[in-house]
Amino acid sequence: MMAFRRTKNKIIKDHKKLSFDYVPRELPNRDKQINRLFTLFRGVVDSDISQNVFLQGSVGTGKTATAKRFCLDFKKWASEEGKKLDYIFVNCRRSNNNSQAMWKMVSHFDKRFPDRGFSVGEMMKILGKHIKEKGIHLMIILDEVDHLIKKDGSELIYLFSRFDDESFTPQGSVSLILISQKNALEFLEEGALSSFKRGNRIKFPKYNPSELYDILEQRSGLALYPDSIKEQELQLLADIAAKRGDARLGIELMEKSALLTEEKSRDKIDAEEIRHAKAEVDPYFTENRIRSLNEQEKIILLASARLLKNKAFTTTGELEEQYKVTTEGYGINTLGHTQFWKYIKSLTEEGLLDSKTVSTGTGRTTKITVSDIPAELLEQKLESIIER
Ligand SMILES: Nc1ncnc2c1ncn2[C@@H]1O[C@H](COP(=O)(O)OP(=O)(O)OP(=O)(O)O)[C@@H](O)[C@H]1O
Ligand SMILES: [Mg+2]
Repeated sequence: MMAFRRTKNKIIKDHKKLSFDYVPRELPNRDKQINRLFTLFRGVVDSDISQNVFLQGSVGTGKTATAKRFCLDFKKWASEEGKKLDYIFVNCRRSNNNSQAMWKMVSHFDKRFPDRGFSVGEMMKILGKHIKEKGIHLMIILDEVDHLIKKDGSELIYLFSRFDDESFTPQGSVSLILISQKNALEFLEEGALSSFKRGNRIKFPKYNPSELYDILEQRSGLALYPDSIKEQELQLLADIAAKRGDARLGIELMEKSALLTEEKSRDKIDAEEIRHAKAEVDPYFTENRIRSLNEQEKIILLASARLLKNKAFTTTGELEEQYKVTTEGYGINTLGHTQFWKYIKSLTEEGLLDSKTVSTGTGRTTKITVSDIPAELLEQKLESIIER
């Protein structure tokens, strides 16, 4: 048998807080969306009305997390205001037809409800009975709703939007929150669409690097031991995730790089682990790709790799110095500044280098890094490819 050493984890303090379904108490940079939800839904409590709301935004923009956080907090607030309210979350990728979605809702109230033998219409009536008996307002969240619409059209949404008119329940008993990456409203038929007012559509824009920084800083505080990731490395994570504006990518990379660091029994996540994690998620630097570069491009990448082996970012000035030393080492002619700069730009455009201009105390400078491959690995590859 292997002798597993019982080493203590040095990076991850609470793994649950990195999992996909954990929802933090606060969601940085989503105040606007949460306030809009509150403005729309407070009428449910104040004036017994219903609401139909649509949340839209691309991958990892916090739609699901925001809806969950809002429902949790709103239910509590409503109960303090003396209003009985409950909510049901249906993931329509998993429950992707009307019958399954209805079953999910009914079994929220009756854990042993049989999963066959009832039609959609019958389950609707049963749901209405539960709502009436309990005297609650029910918020139904149809997450990733496009899967349901694709399968079964918009009938269910239509039925819910006039749930009360069909006299299943008293007026103002059921609200809907639809969530989708795409504009799912486009696929609704007239009847279902008319219940979604213009003002009831809430957009979730892609996160920018500084917003992702806030999110990742919060998450590292919750999930990791203090000081196990520093500012520069958090910034690198945020910059990588910002290429897609995707908080999930940032958190996944944080988890992967934390695990890689623990494997090495180190106590700080460094840039190389982050690049390793990124390369695992989507490899970009293939052998062919590197071979297809010209000699100068290879040398510039090699110089970058050498500088980045133990740090998150370098600068153009520093890189140009290293580039000169490297060309001399290989006996290759050294380009002037303008040419050198052109190559930096084209390597950046190709996604092989990442560069961004930042303001510093003394002016502006360009920070350069690689994010798609560990610098050490890139160095080895280039050294074996470049001819002496
Ligand atoms: N503002 C935020 N603050 C803290 N964590 C966030 C924030 N936004 C997103 N997250 C986290 O990022 C991950 C992705 O968020 P979420 O699942 O809500 O995205 P989504 O918009 O529903 O994406 P998809 O369209 O793929 O379903 C989750 O782990 C979530 O907790
Ligand atoms: Mg989601």
